[in-house]
Amino acid sequence: MSHPTKITHVHAREVLDSRGKPTVEVEVHCGPHAVGRAIVPSGASTGQFEAHELRDGDPTRFDGQGVLKAVQSVSAVLGPECVGLDAVDQVALDRRLLELDGSPHKSRLGANAILGISLANAQAAAVARRVDLVVHLLDLWQQTALPAEFRTPGRMGMSDASLAPLGQELLLPLPMVNMISGGLHAGRNLDLQDFLILPVGAGSYREALGWIVSIYRRLGEALTSAGCEGVLVGDEGGYGPRLTSNEMALSFLTLAIEQAGLRPGIDVALGLDVASTHFFDAGRYLLRSGGDVEFDSAGMVDLLDDWSRRYPLISVEDGCAEDDWDGWNLLTNRLGGRLQLIGDDLFVTNPERLKRGVERGCANSVLIKLNQIGSLTETLVTLRMALSVGYWPVVSARSGETEDSFIAVLAVATGAGQIKIGSVARSERLAKYNQLLRLEEKLGSRAGYAGGKIFRTLRGHS
Ligand code: PGA
Ligand code: ZN
Repeated sequence: MSHPTKITHVHAREVLDSRGKPTVEVEVHCGPHAVGRAIVPSGASTGQFEAHELRDGDPTRFDGQGVLKAVQSVSAVLGPECVGLDAVDQVALDRRLLELDGSPHKSRLGANAILGISLANAQAAAVARRVDLVVHLLDLWQQTALPAEFRTPGRMGMSDASLAPLGQELLLPLPMVNMISGGLHAGRNLDLQDFLILPVGAGSYREALGWIVSIYRRLGEALTSAGCEGVLVGDEGGYGPRLTSNEMALSFLTLAIEQAGLRPGIDVALGLDVASTHFFDAGRYLLRSGGDVEFDSAGMVDLLDDWSRRYPLISVEDGCAEDDWDGWNLLTNRLGGRLQLIGDDLFVTNPERLKRGVERGCANSVLIKLNQIGSLTETLVTLRMALSVGYWPVVSARSGETEDSFIAVLAVATGAGQIKIGSVARSERLAKYNQLLRLEEKLGSRAGYAGGKIFRTLRGHS
């Protein structure tokens, strides 16, 4: 009889994501009976430094978006090489996958092929060990040490004590939830990509989710009664109204919080994913909603500063573009004491870019997206590094998602503290929210909930 946790077979297939775009699904088989399955997500507003998503480019299938080459990478190259490895040793498996690809951005065999195996392997290992995925991921997380090259003497962000209990125990995350979508996710109706809420005052994940649903409903009613066209939803389930300015979205959100009987800034704060890389050109930020305006980096920071004084804003993602390091430094110096400043396109979940950001005084938080870097082990290293330099990690979905709810379990197991999934509409989003409800119920007092308390070190928040 074969060893229960040894990989016996790896299978891949092409399936569809939430935009009807092909993506890679992988099954890893272990021992006599265990099978783990994973589906890889896909972004639309991708950063240029992300790991490479391999697509066929064959115009006769899915407008060139097919992933049969990546499926072939799994079936013909990577999969057979995994047979015989121990699924429990995730680090060795991921190392082998990286070696087999051998290119800096996983472009030879495809980050989508590699990540599919990496995640399906973790699932299979949990099944073979007869433990829940959250227990297996917690074990992997506890074994994740920070490699010497990613230790930085500097420490930009918050102290260990102020970040506690992040990373130290199982935690249900604070959801950061898209309510109004713009940018590349909603036909560029607004310049900014996400207008989000953070239910910082809720006492539990379940309560937070209840508040979110109620605000989402009140917002839909407010937009409809104001006669806004486009209450239909964008890629992540947020409303995609034709508002006349970006700022109008902030006022509608504040109003919806009040109409849900909650206090803006105390119970529920606001967040933005500016995704500014996507309207940045030749050193200028080009904003089109509400009349064309152009800013340099200082002007962009002024705008965010102004909004943060007039609205209950607590978190801003990609306020500057992915290669505007000086802009990022200015943004961090001006607003880093008052706001969570998340690097998404800036860091692309890559520990090397995060290290550079820490050294240059950029951001105080990092978005964690598995497919930006392309393996589970590297993702855990970036998370470990974020916490070691005092940056808040935010585990995130992509705009192209699936029924796979791995990230919900990852957020709980690593105690990351925050998760960004999209809105409370569309089942690829709800798959994750519902998985968190199951984990909350199942783990009971074994999992904590820090909620908005993680922001106690920001000025103006206690
Ligand atoms: P993406 O968007 O998945 O299209 O990159 C998500 C984000 O920018 O946070
Ligand atoms: Zn983003």
